[in-house]
Amino acid sequence: MSGSVITGWGTALPEKVVTNAEFEARLETTDTWIVERTGIHERRFGGTTSGLAVEAGAAAITMAGLAPSEIDLLILATTTPDKAIPATSSTVHAQLGCSGAAFDLNTACAGYVYATVVADAMLGAGIGFKRALVIGSETLSVITDMEDRATAVLFADGAGAVVFEHRDDAQPLILASDLGLDGSLLSILYCDHGGFMKMEGREVFRRAVRATVESALKVLDQAGVTADEIALFVPHQANQRIIDAMTQRLGIPQDRTAIVLDKTGNTSSASIPIALAAAADAGRLSDGDLILFSGFGAGMTWASAVVRWGQ
Ligand code: UT7
Repeated sequence: MSGSVITGWGTALPEKVVTNAEFEARLETTDTWIVERTGIHERRFGGTTSGLAVEAGAAAITMAGLAPSEIDLLILATTTPDKAIPATSSTVHAQLGCSGAAFDLNTACAGYVYATVVADAMLGAGIGFKRALVIGSETLSVITDMEDRATAVLFADGAGAVVFEHRDDAQPLILASDLGLDGSLLSILYCDHGGFMKMEGREVFRRAVRATVESALKVLDQAGVTADEIALFVPHQANQRIIDAMTQRLGIPQDRTAIVLDKTGNTSSASIPIALAAAADAGRLSDGDLILFSGFGAGMTWASAVVRWGQ
């Protein structure tokens, strides 16, 4: 038997806290509307995608007790790269001092789960990779129209990182996964080069609930586990009402759900690793616990996985 284990994690949030009151002061919106319709109280703006990724990645590598040069696979999930060329993972690879391969992966808010599945597959493929750093990092404030109340209050910046190490004696990390996409829905959430994000919020909401619940139920079934056996559900952090609809339909109570949305807003591919790290830091995870990830985003993409925490 062989598999990957999670040995470190870290996060980075810009220092600048932006409260709902700041939007209330200059847009036709209210703190009450934002909290009731989204669950978001504040978010962070600032930094660069590579800078936040380096900070989160360095913390994860330190926790794993590794030297950066021992990381031989770096996957950066992002939908807000610093430049068109090269991939932002090149900057992160250089600044951290990693070895081996690095690439960006863009499946929007499903990016971290996609990247985790890809990293685990590459570590297990016997093609020479031993230690992977998977980072979700975003600076969505750069591509958000701050005059558009429908999106300005939602999206924000941050990064989360996880180190995976391949071990010959470990159980499989991923019990089941489901990666998918419906490209016919790309017009409901997109951003042109040099432009701002455009979103049909209500339609994304509807599709997101349906896709993630179906996908989560599929991986639970494939893994042969029930919702009761999930120690922690880590959903994409887009809207508290979406999370509520998911937990209700999956039968997972909120006390077994990781939520950071109220303090971070929607950080796309960074949201799941930030929520995971916060739960781990709070001592909510023990060796052998099963975690359910479920994310959705522009594409429309979705991704779910049942993952074993620890040894
Ligand atoms: O990460 C993946 C991508 N994104 C998402 O997952 C977002 C999914 N969608 C959502 O979270 C929700 O649809 C939103 C939070 C974006 C909107 O909430 P909603 O309850 O679906 O509102 P709505 O779009 O149906 O709009 C209701 C009303 C509209 O006014 P009218 O047309 O009824 O007069 C909007 O113009 O709320 C208005 N509205 C606002 N009012 C105050 C939209 N944004 C705001 C705002 N403040 N910030």
